Amino acid sequence: MSKTQNIFEQAKQLIPGGVNSPVRAFSSVGGTPVITEHALGSKLTDIDGKEYIDYIGSWGPAILGHSDPDVVKAITDSACKGISFGTSTTAELTIAKKITELMPTIEMVRMVTSGTEATMSALRLARAYTKRNKLIKFAGSYHGHGDSFLVKAGSGAMTFGTPTSPGVTQATADDTLIAEFNHIDSVAQLIKSNKDNVAAVIVEPVIGNAGVIPPVDNFLQKLRELTTANGVLLIIDEVMTGFRLAPGGAQEIYNVKADLTTMGKVIGGGLPIGAYGGRKEIMQMISPSGPVYQAGTLSGNPIAVAAGLATLNKLNDELYKTLEARSAQLESGIKTNLKKLSLPYTYQRVGSMNCLFFIDKPVISFDDAANCDTEKFSRYYQNMLNNGILLPPSQFEAFFVSVAHSQEDIEKTIKANYDSLC
Ligand SMILES: Cc1ncc(COP(=O)(O)O)c(C=O)c1O
Repeated sequence: MSKTQNIFEQAKQLIPGGVNSPVRAFSSVGGTPVITEHALGSKLTDIDGKEYIDYIGSWGPAILGHSDPDVVKAITDSACKGISFGTSTTAELTIAKKITELMPTIEMVRMVTSGTEATMSALRLARAYTKRNKLIKFAGSYHGHGDSFLVKAGSGAMTFGTPTSPGVTQATADDTLIAEFNHIDSVAQLIKSNKDNVAAVIVEPVIGNAGVIPPVDNFLQKLRELTTANGVLLIIDEVMTGFRLAPGGAQEIYNVKADLTTMGKVIGGGLPIGAYGGRKEIMQMISPSGPVYQAGTLSGNPIAVAAGLATLNKLNDELYKTLEARSAQLESGIKTNLKKLSLPYTYQRVGSMNCLFFIDKPVISFDDAANCDTEKFSRYYQNMLNNGILLPPSQFEAFFVSVAHSQEDIEKTIKANYDSLC
């Protein structure tokens, strides 16, 4: 028995499913999940000493690759000054300045400890501000595991075939209305039939939790116009896209302005963090300047903020050019493989978020994604793993390119992709 199998067997006795977050369990692709010993740059090594080129990238935060020296230094310097205080620090002001500079729609920001907390808090705030109850979300989108969002959710929920979780009360589910991504009429219908009762629409601007699904046909602009016309707040969930697609996130790329933005992943440089922000008039309703309660023992934790700042400070034009060049190299190599093999698959990419769907048409909605051949994905996945390539273990996840991925890494990945598909 390998060390990995041994540890996983033991973990299953003490941790539900043997993991602390469901998709890590490899349930949908089969086999024993990778248990990491260490990771550096683009490479991750498991406890049996096998090295992989890693495209999980901590599920998005590792835009600089693993253990970037500047981030590690920021963490150790900060830890040497103290681990957590429960008082404010200067670094919290520095990161607030940085985020508001990078994302012009954010006039004020509140730090929390996960993306889940950011979306839950933003929804509460939107309800308080509009004095309305209902939320519109899109089928297949994932916004963390808050009850209101676990209705037709993407990612892990989709992977495990339980897009709506037991334990979510009917009352909560009733307040969550489901629209179709890229179908503006589906949103208009819901707003119309719930007149003056929709507080917010929350959207992943590029869905990254049902594979990678970009907005088409000016969908986000139409959403902006529709929500504004009906007094509905637009919450753009940039937990995955924020600072990854561009310094100003998907809002910069698609030229759309949120009322509230939720963030996580990259802004913590790999440490637990989240944030939500937006127009001052709305954000000032948060306690203690307003009545909407939201708090956190570890909110704005100095080490997480230091890691986040060290990461954000390295995001420059050069970095995004490198990310784009490597990602384009990967896309074109994989597409060439697919052509050579006459295989009807679909490759979708926005910046450094990539996805290979096992379906022969563009994927623009949850239904398209749900119709993909997940068995084929599992076989492909295992072959890639045997070739030393670690992709996220689900058809419904993006694989992330970092600046630490070298041209050689990408070439090896393209070659492994060819071997895996043959
Ligand atoms: C778009 C989006 N929103 C929210 C979340 C939840 O973030 P966290 O896992 O930090 O709670 C995720 C996590 O993958 C996400 O991708």
